[in-house]
Amino acid sequence: MKGIGLVFFASAAFYGLAGMCLGLWMGGQQDFTLAPVHAHLNLLGFVTMALVGFFYHLTPAAAGRLAKVHFGMATLGLWLMIPGIGLAVTGRGEAMAIVGSLVTVASMALFVVNLGLSLRPSRRRDVVAHSAA
Ligand code: HEM
Repeated sequence: MKGIGLVFFASAAFYGLAGMCLGLWMGGQQDFTLAPVHAHLNLLGFVTMALVGFFYHLTPAAAGRLAKVHFGMATLGLWLMIPGIGLAVTGRGEAMAIVGSLVTVASMALFVVNLGLSLRPSRRRDVVAHSAA
């Protein structure tokens, strides 16, 4: 693995470690207030970023400039959303969580567009090579 796929995957590993540490901390404290933070850090940070990393690794046609913008938006969304959920569940305002959610949804929409574009025959080296043969 290399390139943007690896960047997504390395981020996923980092978020997975952070999410698990938060889970351990919650268990140790017997205070589960931050369970939604833990869940989103693991599911958006670890699981989603890892799946996307695998996709870009397996689909070089999609791993171009849009994939880098996707990474930037997904990262920004996560870094707003995770503390934002923490603030929201502790009663200190929801604005950051809302903005983070919107950026995160936008990053997923960009992923859908990029995925769709990568399916076009002109972007797929395997299809071009196959039809040229
Ligand atoms: C070392 C690893 C982990 C530890 C110690 C841990 C610990 C915890 C704890 C203590 C809770 C709160 C349970 C409660 O409210 O009674 C929790 C909830 C949860 N965890 Fe984990 N967890 C770990 C890994 C993961 C992973 C890898 C995922 C997902 C990929 C995950 C997803 C969730 C979800 C969805 C919830 C429910 C959140 C909610 O009720 O709002 N956890 N975990």
